[in-house]
Amino acid sequence: MEYRKTEKDGVYVFLLKNESNQVYVTNYGATLLSWLVIDGHNNLQDIVLGYDTIEDYARYDGYLGACLGRVANRIAEGRFVLDGQEYKVPVNNGPNSLHGGVQGFSYKTFGYDMIGDSCVRFSLVSPDGDQGYPGTLHVSITYRLENDTLSIHYQAQSDADTLVNLSNHAYFNLDGACAIGEHCLRIAAEKFAPVDENGLVSKELKVLGEAMDFSSEKPIREALGSNDSDIAIAKGLDHPYVFASKKDPVTLYSPKSGLELVLNTSYPLAQIYTANYLDGRCGKHGVQMEAQGAICLEAQYMPDDIHRDPHSKTILRKGETYDEWTSFTIRKR
Ligand code: BGC
Repeated sequence: MEYRKTEKDGVYVFLLKNESNQVYVTNYGATLLSWLVIDGHNNLQDIVLGYDTIEDYARYDGYLGACLGRVANRIAEGRFVLDGQEYKVPVNNGPNSLHGGVQGFSYKTFGYDMIGDSCVRFSLVSPDGDQGYPGTLHVSITYRLENDTLSIHYQAQSDADTLVNLSNHAYFNLDGACAIGEHCLRIAAEKFAPVDENGLVSKELKVLGEAMDFSSEKPIREALGSNDSDIAIAKGLDHPYVFASKKDPVTLYSPKSGLELVLNTSYPLAQIYTANYLDGRCGKHGVQMEAQGAICLEAQYMPDDIHRDPHSKTILRKGETYDEWTSFTIRKR
């Protein structure tokens, strides 16, 4: 394990490595900064988008590589009722609250514990009332590199009933950069949740139509180039896909680099987001990051679940432990 201090107070960059992988993470936002692998042509590829400085992670939205919390995705109108009491959380995305509010976990500096050469645990105490959420929440987010698998383990406990839905917002591109359309995607899902013009999920699930159906692997461009109304309203893919199978529910493959990424998770679904709102801003090494230049595979519970299910798994009861994980395996195909 190597680590170095960055230009922001109390913020460090940690390197998890083994023979074939170098993973850089930081305690700022518990963020995945870079994942360097050797591709099918023996080139070194960084398969996640990001910025050159931690200041840029603090300055911009977009949540590149960051941990999302307390609650990933949207809460309708920034309000919810829990145990008969109404709570208000910051409205920071149209009429809704997105990714934990204005100062969600993506913008917090976590504590850290290094565990051997290939594991680091980030921890945070989010005080009662943080971004409007009840309960003092103790959170830990552990990155572990094992062979060609990077796993993220989320744990949390609260001293009062609260809401939690933790995810990661890495923007993957298995060619390092360029449009994502030629990447091939497979998602073991038959249903998804449509979204409105503000990205808020509808209450009813829908069976996947032809364009959005990735149950057999196909190039992402086939969806992005279609005139499917669910894709048009979201400006691309930006939808929760509910898994029909637990094993390898998502695979992403680039014929160009020959790399394949496989997602596994304890969560029941993933928000599949084709970076529709990247706006040409400057990324690593001065390269511009354009819309649909990457894909986020955000495993989580259903967005806005508190308004869908009175027994939502996003309700964390006082004293109980929230315990979920997601892993990404990279390999040559
Ligand atoms: C959401 C998008 C949002 C993006 C912000 C994604 O998780 O699904 O709607 O624009 O995060 O980077």
